[in-house]
Amino acid sequence: RIAGPCSLVIFGVTGDLARRKLMPAVYDLASRGLLPPGFALVGFARRDWAAEDFGKVVHDAVRQHSRTPFREDVWERLAEGIRFVQGSFDDDESFDRLAKTIADLDRERGTGGNHAFYLAIPPGAFPTVCAQLSRSGLAHQQGEQWRRVVIEKPFGHDLDSARELNRVIGEVFPEDSVFRIDHYLGKETVQNILALRFANQLFDPLWNSHYVDHVQITMAEDIGLGGRAGYYDGIGAARDVIQNHLLQLLALTAMEEPISFEPAELQAEKIKVLSATRLAEPLAETTARGQYTGGWQGGQEVVGLLDEAGFAKDSTTETFAAITLEVDSRRWAGVPFYLRTGKRLGRRVTEIALVFKRAPHLPFDTTMTEELGENALVIRVQPDEGVTLRFGSKVPGSGMEVRDVNMDFSYGQAFTESSPEAYERLILDVLLGEPSLFPVDREVELSWQILDPVIEAWTAAGRPDPYEAGTWGPASAHEMLTRSGRDWRRP
Ligand code: BG6
Repeated sequence: RIAGPCSLVIFGVTGDLARRKLMPAVYDLASRGLLPPGFALVGFARRDWAAEDFGKVVHDAVRQHSRTPFREDVWERLAEGIRFVQGSFDDDESFDRLAKTIADLDRERGTGGNHAFYLAIPPGAFPTVCAQLSRSGLAHQQGEQWRRVVIEKPFGHDLDSARELNRVIGEVFPEDSVFRIDHYLGKETVQNILALRFANQLFDPLWNSHYVDHVQITMAEDIGLGGRAGYYDGIGAARDVIQNHLLQLLALTAMEEPISFEPAELQAEKIKVLSATRLAEPLAETTARGQYTGGWQGGQEVVGLLDEAGFAKDSTTETFAAITLEVDSRRWAGVPFYLRTGKRLGRRVTEIALVFKRAPHLPFDTTMTEELGENALVIRVQPDEGVTLRFGSKVPGSGMEVRDVNMDFSYGQAFTESSPEAYERLILDVLLGEPSLFPVDREVELSWQILDPVIEAWTAAGRPDPYEAGTWGPASAHEMLTRSGRDWRRP
């Protein structure tokens, strides 16, 4: 579907997100012919750029980061609708100028009075910008027009602050005009969880506590936190990615089938499963947190967190977090969901693994089945996108030796279509007014409600456990699983 007449206004246009993700995504949409003819892109920032400077910044960002090949004709058409407004968030006059620019665009480009405001700015500035959008009349839609606001995490730092944020935004924008970005939901492999589960008959009969022993959701990154102290110090891995990305992955994996794929029905199921999700206790045994120290990665020596620029020398910010969740439902009773994430781990990989119970009886000489693990269905979110089914198979030869093998589906091999970048899909959905891939206020609040107790416990407990860069986290993470006779997968 092609978006109707509209403009996209980006606050925080000088930031990394705008340069690496948002502008390239807008170009990719243009290049795939998914933007309306009179589309306009407006940048708002404090920096004293001339309109041409901004045009150049967008141009460079597009050349460097867009997915689709650069085409002069596409760029020129897009560039005609690019505007820049210099100003600061607390200055009424700046917003009056923005309103004027937008009104001019309505006339010149035919944007129809439809505008999306993308707040790629620290959440501390949301209240001011929302108030300005309200005061200047920019937030008020008339007749058939629409106004939408797009916000980026962090959506608060605990339940109370998330509620407050939702309240502040809700004063200006009705909930159905608020689009909260969780870019994991824009990933093809994440959307495919629902297709895998609900478009097939094969998996559903196994998708429950009768067959599933436990679920492991891993989001591992090899990068460190150099250059991100301003955002990350004091935030940590649980708030950064478990509260949003990993709990969304859990919701999609554990939820019941929605009545339809209408946004409200999907949300209802996600809200239901998040409402039934809680931390397993005692937290000292069911969770682990760590902080990377120096080590080797990819053949390079890297420094520990405390030596990264900008981090407090006694920072207790965790760069690794693992928790155990339980879902109180008939389907999942007694099935632990282990979630882990970390920076500077062995490699970059995100996956969801359903690990099945062992066969109740093995009619083989068990010394021959040493390598036999548990059956697993692994949804490979990234980077090697696909699905793996792991099961035991007879080793060719005269004996009856059984060994684990993988059956793989890989996107690259199965499809010729390329996956759009997550932001491309999400920005298009904002412009189309399609809310399915955006968490609603209640989901955000439930996620904090689930996570708050462990963050509080960790804050009280002092230092995270150290782990060497390039490894799979602290020893405590390992112990957390071995206690129940299980082990983390080594993806
Ligand atoms: C962001 C986090 O939401 O996701 C980052 O703030 C993290 O810390 C990033 O690096 C990972 O995204 P992706 O798409 O590369 O897995």
